[in-house]
Formats: sequence, C-alpha cells, structure tokens
Amino acid sequence: MKIAVIGTGYVGLVTGTCLAESGNDVICMDIDVRKIEMLNSGVVPIYEPGLEELIKRNVGHGRLGFTTDMAKAVRHAELNFIAVGTPPGEDGAADLKYVLLAARAIGKHMNGYKVVINKSTVPVGTADKVRAALAAKARFKFDVVSNPEFLKEGAAIEDFMRPDRVVIGADSAKAMEIMEELYAPFVRKGDRILVMDIKSAEMTKYASNAMLATKISFINEMALICAGLGADIDSVRRGMGFDRRIGFEFLFPGVGYGGSCFPKDVKALAQTAKECCVDARVLKSVEAVNERQKRLLSDMVLRHFTGKAAKTGGVAKKPLAGKTIAVWGLSFKPRTDDMREAPSVVIINNLLRAGAAVSAHDPVAMDEARKIFKNRIGFLDDDYETLRGADALAVVTEWSEFRTPDFKKMKRLMKRPVIFDGRNIYNQEELRKLGFTYYGIGRR
Ligand SMILES: NC(=O)c1ccc[n+]([C@@H]2O[C@H](COP(=O)([O-])OP(=O)(O)OC[C@H]3O[C@@H](n4cnc5c(N)ncnc54)[C@H](O)[C@@H]3O)[C@@H](O)[C@H]2O)c1
Repeated sequence: MKIAVIGTGYVGLVTGTCLAESGNDVICMDIDVRKIEMLNSGVVPIYEPGLEELIKRNVGHGRLGFTTDMAKAVRHAELNFIAVGTPPGEDGAADLKYVLLAARAIGKHMNGYKVVINKSTVPVGTADKVRAALAAKARFKFDVVSNPEFLKEGAAIEDFMRPDRVVIGADSAKAMEIMEELYAPFVRKGDRILVMDIKSAEMTKYASNAMLATKISFINEMALICAGLGADIDSVRRGMGFDRRIGFEFLFPGVGYGGSCFPKDVKALAQTAKECCVDARVLKSVEAVNERQKRLLSDMVLRHFTGKAAKTGGVAKKPLAGKTIAVWGLSFKPRTDDMREAPSVVIINNLLRAGAAVSAHDPVAMDEARKIFKNRIGFLDDDYETLRGADALAVVTEWSEFRTPDFKKMKRLMKRPVIFDGRNIYNQEELRKLGFTYYGIGRR
C-alpha cells in the first residue's frame, strides 16, 4: 500500500519504517527541516534500538523516503497517518494544534480518496475535529480512522512488529477493511486486531496509559508506606506479583514515571473527564503521587547530609554546598535518549538548588540532557569518572550497564561510599558488607 506518515518523531518514524519493512511504499513527512535532512543523509535523529538498520534496509530497497513536502507526501499515499505531537496545553488538555494543522494540510493536497489515520494520542472526539478540518479543504472523499499507538520507547520496533493488540476505531467498512489488511502481517498469531467505534479507540489509549501510570504510583506509594513501617517493598512486591490478577509488570518502585506519554496523558484524561462533569479523583491522585515521588531521591540526599528534609525548613540555604553528587542515568527510562519529563530533571535541579555539584553519565541521553542542563552539571563519558571525589551516587535510570558495576573500584573513586539507589537495582546486603551506606526506595 502507499502510505504517508505526517510527523516523523518517535512514533511516526517507527511506524513508517515498520510499515515499509512489511512491504509498503512509505513516505515520512515532517516540518522539521533539520530532522528530514539528517534522515536523508542516513543519520537517525533519535536513539531507538534496531531502528537505524531497519531504516537503512528499507531506504535501500526504495520503500522508505523522507520529505518536508506535504503535497508530495499526501499525493503519494492512499493512507495518511497523522503522528504529530499532542503536548499538554496550559490546562493540561492535549493541544491539538499540530494534529489539526496536519489535517488541514492533508485536506488541501488530496488528489483522490484517502484514509486519514490518527496515530497521535488524542482526546475522545478528536476524530470529529479532524474530519471537520479535512472537510473544510477536501475535494475528494475520505474516511477518518483512530489507530492509537502502544509502542514503548526502547522496545518500539518489537512492539510495532509484534503488537499485543492493534486497536482500530472506524465507522466506514471500506476504511476498516484497508486497515485490517495493512496490519494483517503484524498479527499472524491470534486475533489481535480489535475493531471498535472511533471514540472507544481514542479512549482505549488513554485508559491504558492511565492504568499503567496508576500501577506505578500505587507501588511507589506502597514503597513509602513500607519505608515508614519498616517493611520491605521487594518482599511485598513479590508477594503481590504472583497473584495473577495483579502480576509483576509495572510494579517496580522508583523515582516516578516520566516520558512524553504518561504525564501528559494522565493530565489530559483528567481534563477530558472534567469536560464531561466527572471528577477524575484516581487520575489526580496518580499525578500528585508521581510529583511527590520525583522529589523523593533528592530529599533523601538532603536528609542524609543535613539530617533534615527539604520541606521541613531550618535547612541552610545551600545545604549541599561543597558536595558533589554523581548521577547515573538521565533518560526517563533505559534504552532511549528521551528526556521529556524525565525525573532526573527534577532530581538534579533540586540538588543544584541545594548547592551540590552534579557529575552525570548516561549511555545515550547526554546530548539531549545538555540541551536542558547546559553547563550547570558535568557530563562524563565514563560512568566511573563521575564518581571521582563524589560524596554520593544517585542511580536514576536503570540502564543494564549500571546493574553489576565494580563496587570496589567505585568505593576507591568516591570520597564517601554512599549510594542512593532510585531503582532498587543493587543488593543492599552486599553493598553494606562492602562498606557502602545504601538507600533504596521502600527497602529495609
Ligand atoms: N513517544 C512514545 O512513546 C509514544 C507512544 C505512543 C503514542 N505516542 C503519541 O504519538 C504522538 C507523537 O509522539 P512522538 O513521541 O512521536 O512525538 P515527537 O515530538 O517525537 O514527534 C512529533 C513530530 O511531529 C512533527 N510535526 C509537528 N507538526 C507537524 C505538521 N504539521 N506536519 C508534519 N510534522 C509535524 C514534529 O516536527 C515532530 O518531529 C503523540 O500524540 C504521543 O502522545 C507517543
């Protein structure tokens, strides 16, 4: 099939590439000239495992191309995916400006029947707005489809190629048939294409992300209670997870969720709920718990060095002046360079505000992190070098290379052997035996 993907970010680029891999003829379009120039010269603008090879192969076979020319993209394709960003507006609701701009442009350049597919995460009712935006310009027939994306950054190719499910919301039999044909190669085992009305498809995406965020905030709150009571969240988590109704997925305590999806989608759904007169109390709590959790690690550092938490007052203005904190991991989760809403930003800003110096390492997110922190923190290519003379280490993102480091070497390099393990990846007994002062999240 001939496909255009409007918006070549994490979702658009993965979608376009994977659809080319299954034999379609794909053009990815973006208004970001630099991004398209990079792609056209063989440079992949984001870090996503496996993506570069897949792009190379499909460009090589002539099935995948990149352009800034909207007219060319739209005319090329019968299927037009919209995969632009939907950032939160001032009130937390999703800002649909980019989606509607893309829809108007598709309408303007149509040269025949088109299926216009919303892949961006958009509030319930957006398909109607897209339809109106298209209709204002279009001279040909079209159908609007909702096809939310469930991929995870860091495992995006695998998720797209072998999805748990494909959700398609459509009200036209023709569009539905085209979509089912398009996705058939990806769902060869079992019946995983879920066809439904458009509003339910739009809602499914938000409900799924809200559920995942809820699990994270729930276990983070349990960890805080465990810490208060002297119980151990690791034991509790295992005791819970073997219950098949609960399971282990997304039940790891940490420094709070981040990324480009959960924070904005939880807020946007709460805002949508308000519009239909529902007070989304669970969603509001999920968000509030997450905000609290993002401050936890820096509060622990402060308490360790001053005996007081940030909020309790009575702490000197720059209580961490003269201290250097090493930070391992900056991206919001491993296997991505995405820094959007990363808890590391809150943690590091709190440490800097308290007067600490920060030396950080991340395997792939340092370029993105530099755009945020500029020269306010030190960036080191070698994780061990961050530890030289450091008063403590804060582990913020659980990259696999941080999981089994050489603790003896670490101890030699550090001024003080103190570890704040924001992801509970270390064996605390072992570390204590080696002479480290260890803090985890909700651990005994
Ligand atoms: N990132 C994820 O893990 C993920 C997963 C599932 C769903 N989503 C959803 O998918 C959507 C896209 O997310 P993303 O992370 O890929 O965003 P992104 O910011 O990485 O990419 C969006 C791209 O759209 C481009 N763009 C904006 N307006 C445009 C226009 N009018 N025409 C052409 N291009 C335009 C931007 O330049 C940018 O390159 C969002 O709604 C997001 O919530 C994201």
